Amino acid sequence: MDNNMKFKDGFLWGAATSGPQCEGTFNKKHKNVFDYWYEVEPEAFFDKVGPEVTSNFYNSYEEDLAMLKSIGLNSFRTSIQWTRLIKDFETGEADEDGIEFYNNVINEIIKNGLTPIITLHHFDLPVELYDKYGGWESKHVVDLFVKFANTAFRLFSDRVKLWTTFNEPIVVVEGQYLYQFHYPKVVDGKKAIQALYNINLASAKTIKVFKENNYGKDGAKIGTILNLTPSYPRDINNPDDVKAAKIADAFFNESFLMPAIKGEFPKLLVDLLKEDDVLWESTEEELKIIKENNIEYLGVNYYFPRRIKAKEEKVDESKPWMPDKYFDNYEMPGRRMNPYRGWEIYPKAIYDIAINIRDNYDNIPWYISENGMGVEGEDRYINSEGIIEDDYRIEFIKEHLEYLHKGIEEGSNCFGYHSWTGIDCWSWCNAYKNRYGFIALDLKTQKKTIKKSGQWIKEFIK
Ligand code: BG6
Repeated sequence: MDNNMKFKDGFLWGAATSGPQCEGTFNKKHKNVFDYWYEVEPEAFFDKVGPEVTSNFYNSYEEDLAMLKSIGLNSFRTSIQWTRLIKDFETGEADEDGIEFYNNVINEIIKNGLTPIITLHHFDLPVELYDKYGGWESKHVVDLFVKFANTAFRLFSDRVKLWTTFNEPIVVVEGQYLYQFHYPKVVDGKKAIQALYNINLASAKTIKVFKENNYGKDGAKIGTILNLTPSYPRDINNPDDVKAAKIADAFFNESFLMPAIKGEFPKLLVDLLKEDDVLWESTEEELKIIKENNIEYLGVNYYFPRRIKAKEEKVDESKPWMPDKYFDNYEMPGRRMNPYRGWEIYPKAIYDIAINIRDNYDNIPWYISENGMGVEGEDRYINSEGIIEDDYRIEFIKEHLEYLHKGIEEGSNCFGYHSWTGIDCWSWCNAYKNRYGFIALDLKTQKKTIKKSGQWIKEFIK
């Protein structure tokens, strides 16, 4: 292991979280889809722990940010919750308490010498907009999102210089419309494809508003955050496996990456969707907006690769359309697993991503916006001084950094690395099952204690 990697001056070292996963629902006037889902089905959440308190950031942001600074970080990402900032979704009018809270948070981030990176949508669609309009199935909701974004830019872009429209938009499509891990847990390929298109449109329209209002005049930039899961074929000498992996890539990665950077959807995907009669509804005017409003930088969340093989069983055409008709997931023998989260650990993919961005995506400026390891039962690693000795996390981060460093050395334009997460936060349906933080949270007392990895990252950054 190379402990002497050098990263350029000004490289962003940080940690990411999101509003719904750290703030708690205190004083929020509206519910997002997860708030509502927990209300009606608490047993869907690990140990029935919901989003009400999480790590209490709403009340403890001053102490929390000071702790993040104390472990040597120079940047921090969170999200502004649509359901907290906005009072009236139709007009985009802001809520007084929401304004005050996010003003305080942003000021405090800056006061601590951290660069704020702010996301506008982190899986947290207001449930009212699903009930009224069908959420991301609706183009009206696209326009309401743009109003919310415009309000946020107007209020905060004097201090926030790095904005991102969406976090992992493909996960919204997968969770809400295909694989049932986000409310409303619908299985409907046609709606999934429309939502995929609409979210791309929402991101482009948000960028358009950002540019038209000149919010970047003092150097603010707008990007998006995609979870890239490179698809590796089972056998690179088997053309069917290779083709299946290409299609999986087009669906899970390029469907957002290409429009965001090139302003176009992948042809392979569009052709298949047309042939299957599930292509989205679009207009010339919308496609022009997508074409002309690209991101200025990219955030990449990387956790695990995708292993793909050609479909082994004949597809039952009487069943609803699913992208999986074109590929099977492949359980590669000997793969290294994180057993708690069930995700493969494959650090080299970070290098592959870096090279892909360099060679196929104009070497756009980008950063690792999330990378991390969720582990269950970390209390068993507490030493006599009360510190969790999470050597596995240190190893995980080092290995990923080593491959990232190699990509940068070879010319990839990466400007930062953010781990998921700073302080153990709420993980959707997994609630507090797996812990990711540099800082441990005692759920009962809300006491926060720096782990060994938190001490290590400070030294490493130095
Ligand atoms: C990313 C999300 O998918 O991974 C985070 O942006 C999430 O919101 C993180 O918490 C870890 O995944 P999980 O499902 O274990 O919480």
